[in-house]
Amino acid sequence: MRTSRTLITLLVALALIAAPVAASTLGGDRARPERRVANVIAGSASLPVAAPGEVSATTPSRAAPAPLSALSPPLFTAPWATLVPPPLVSQRLDPVLARRNAARAALRRALAAARRDDAAVLVDKRRALPARYVPRDLVVPRVTFLAGVPEEGRMLRRRPARALERLFAAARRDKVPLAAVSGFRSYGSQQALFSGYASERGTENASHVSARAGHSEHQTGLAVDVSGANGRCAAESCFAGTRPARWLAAHVARYGFVVRYPRGREQTTGYEYEPWHLRYVGPALAATATRTDRTLDELLRRR
Ligand code: DAL
Ligand code: ZN
Repeated sequence: MRTSRTLITLLVALALIAAPVAASTLGGDRARPERRVANVIAGSASLPVAAPGEVSATTPSRAAPAPLSALSPPLFTAPWATLVPPPLVSQRLDPVLARRNAARAALRRALAAARRDDAAVLVDKRRALPARYVPRDLVVPRVTFLAGVPEEGRMLRRRPARALERLFAAARRDKVPLAAVSGFRSYGSQQALFSGYASERGTENASHVSARAGHSEHQTGLAVDVSGANGRCAAESCFAGTRPARWLAAHVARYGFVVRYPRGREQTTGYEYEPWHLRYVGPALAATATRTDRTLDELLRRR
């Protein structure tokens, strides 16, 4: 009798000791959700996210979810903890997993948005912008436009707009007056443009000269087509070799632009030579592109 009373007392004592240990082992981190979110965000710094400047809309995320053990490292588990019935693990962890996944998804969205707004964004035949993407800082540069350019096509993001004004002023000083032909194009406008080319010359031919909706740099607000002020050969192959085309090739880098689709580089860029299509990337990257004779595809794909 006395022995069994002692045994019961011992068991109760063990249970009282084991309960808090088991709780902290299995759910301790739940009590500090802000720390868990901080862990997720801090951990993301080493995640293999898409390279800066790449657009990830059509690039599947390479960030594999961290194992749960990385978020809740197991504490020391006392052998007597097994005396306590196991808690309903799935019920306890589901909200934690949900919070973790939500934090990771929010981070991925924020990084993708930052990359889209980066002047070094890479938009090409594989990397697309979301249909709803419209840059937030569109303005109309104070430059000459060809007659008939719609309001939308007169807009550029603020930095390329200011750079284009300086570029046009320099060209005017060199007696090579220029005109802007086409700046920002929304997803819908690009869709209509590509359809027009496709019905004219077939989809395959169209894809050498026009981007499909979502894949045009014009949707970034960083690209602009430029011609001579008289509009001759505007955005047509006969623009190649003209005085304005030669002037652009020699001077745009100083203002942060590159001729995005150079002659003989279709294998890399996906498009025929377009001496009129200028893409703003900032003076440093433009200088690198010029010095190394590399296209943006070559410079940005592996950054
Ligand atoms: N002409 C270029 C490739 C565009 O459509 O964006
Ligand atoms: Zn263009």
